[in-house]
Amino acid sequence: MQKWNAEDYEKHARFVTDLGSPVVELLAPKAGERILDVGCGDGVLTAKLAQLGCVMVGVDSSPELVAAARRLDLEVVETCATEMEFDAEFDAVFSNAALHWMRDADAVIRRVARALRSGGRFVAEMGGQGCVDTIVRALVAELDRRGHNGEAAVPWYFPSVEDYGARLAAAGFEVRYIALIPRPTPLPDMPGWLKTFSGNFTAVLRPGEREDYLRCVLERLVPKLRDSDGNWTADYVRLRFAAHFA
Ligand code: BEZ
Repeated sequence: MQKWNAEDYEKHARFVTDLGSPVVELLAPKAGERILDVGCGDGVLTAKLAQLGCVMVGVDSSPELVAAARRLDLEVVETCATEMEFDAEFDAVFSNAALHWMRDADAVIRRVARALRSGGRFVAEMGGQGCVDTIVRALVAELDRRGHNGEAAVPWYFPSVEDYGARLAAAGFEVRYIALIPRPTPLPDMPGWLKTFSGNFTAVLRPGEREDYLRCVLERLVPKLRDSDGNWTADYVRLRFAAHFA
């Protein structure tokens, strides 16, 4: 249900790639390595890794974002991470700000394990436990108020260290680093952010109701996420990990 638009993504989600450097540091990419970027989006971060000399392959399920990534001359496969068919062909699997859209985490982790050569690493950052909780609560409560099941519309999976760590270990990974990192994130345009990321919630509503819904969600957020100068800060929390496959 979440539809991506490359222009909106550029305007309201570019900070996602701009803030991706700690996980790139954790990846420690080396020139010549073959690296798979799961949920590569519009490919801006993938292209940066390619510029470092890595041989990159991207995967994304959004045709719009795959088209944007291919415009950067990247090799990209349009598929869900749960259906990837790679077999022992990558030195590393990387992912930034994508895995929380993939609710069947075990299926994703199994496909990642299959894609890695023996000794390969899975290094990623995603939304972690409590991520954008204030925003999620407002989106859910406002759907509930309108007679819908708000909780059922939540598309995200924000796991704890224990949850994701256990899933990685069960799939045969040795988890060398995993941490939950609160990262309050200034958002210059909260209405734009909501419009870009709330597709699963607004899809439940009639088109004529959607604008008012987002206005009411925004009103709920004002006392919690907007300061007296009008600046918005989202309550982001990241889960970052590095795990090696035997
Ligand atoms: C995130 O990157 O954590 C995120 C992005 C969109 C919606 C929710 C979380």
